[in-house]
Amino acid sequence: MPATITSVAHYVPPDIYDNAFFESYLDTSNEWIVTRTGISERRILKQGATSDLIIPAAKECIEKRGIEPDEIDTIIVATVTPDYLFPNTASIVQHKLGIKNVWGFDLSAACSGFIFALVTAAGLVESGISKKLLLCGADKMSAITDYSDRTQAILFGDAGGCVLIEKSKDPNLGILDHILQVDGVGLPYLHMLGGGSANPANHETVEKKYHYLYQDGQTVFKAAVVGMADFSLEIMRRNNLKSEDVDWLVPHQANLRIISATGNRMGLPPEKVMVNIDKYGNTTAATIPMCLSEWHQAGKLKKGHNLILASFGAGYTVGAVYMKWYMND
Ligand code: UT7
Repeated sequence: MPATITSVAHYVPPDIYDNAFFESYLDTSNEWIVTRTGISERRILKQGATSDLIIPAAKECIEKRGIEPDEIDTIIVATVTPDYLFPNTASIVQHKLGIKNVWGFDLSAACSGFIFALVTAAGLVESGISKKLLLCGADKMSAITDYSDRTQAILFGDAGGCVLIEKSKDPNLGILDHILQVDGVGLPYLHMLGGGSANPANHETVEKKYHYLYQDGQTVFKAAVVGMADFSLEIMRRNNLKSEDVDWLVPHQANLRIISATGNRMGLPPEKVMVNIDKYGNTTAATIPMCLSEWHQAGKLKKGHNLILASFGAGYTVGAVYMKWYMND
């Protein structure tokens, strides 16, 4: 029996930073940001850590499903901004939620974090290792963004999204197929060099800005356009899905131009492509669960809808998932 998503919720911090904020101190403009990225505003968590972005979403997710927190047996946190290098954020989330007898781990795959974790979670549930798995995709990107660099500052935001993964009650509905890939060729173009074992923190790593995210935008852009579209088309092909069969493309939200190019290559009209990058910017592991949560809340996701989830991120990491929407109801 496949696994499926039985509940979904998200959290964004209240503080909004619009493009005028960046115009006030950087050599940039609202027009440049909107036309090049599609972003109008993003949310920043002023105090707290990534687990604080997860907890409100996790509580809502559990409450919506109508179960006791203790029924959760596994927690996975997809993030590149863990509260600490260790202990893992899954342990912190467990403790803050007060759930007993649960195990879990963090998963690092940058912007593909949610999709990689979703496939991992589905495998755990299908095999019977986990029965009720809380999957969290969250990033406090403001913790690793250089706000003096106009090429990076305007891109990112903070958010958290959670889903509950359980066995589907219908063998034809739920998480049905995936294609995932890592390719270390991406290291020079998208990374944070400091703080790990290669470059432990010291004065020099701080001076060299190694504790901030670095991205060669153009190179990553080109790779992302090809990667997201190729993987999405391949998963359509091997599941005999034509453009008209796809109800929703759920793309990672890094750049509206990448999203549109992917939708176009899949032959989808814009109204079948989920976009909320205008409000939140790139929130890394949170973008896809946030889209699912907002569209579910708006009543736009119907039982049996064909969804293609697609992502591209640091690594490089690339992923596409095919699911038929079903919340076991
Ligand atoms: O989520 C993980 C994966 N990440 C992605 O998929 C992101 C991929 N990359 C992108 O989305 C885009 O490359 C960016 C949005 C990051 C940049 O857009 P771009 O169209 O590729 O711009 P560019 O880097 O080629 O820069 C064009 C010009 C440059 O000036 P010159 O050299 O032509 O004079 C930049 O210095 O735009 C300049 N520029 C800016 N100007 C105003 C860069 N950032 C800004 C800015 N405001 N904020």
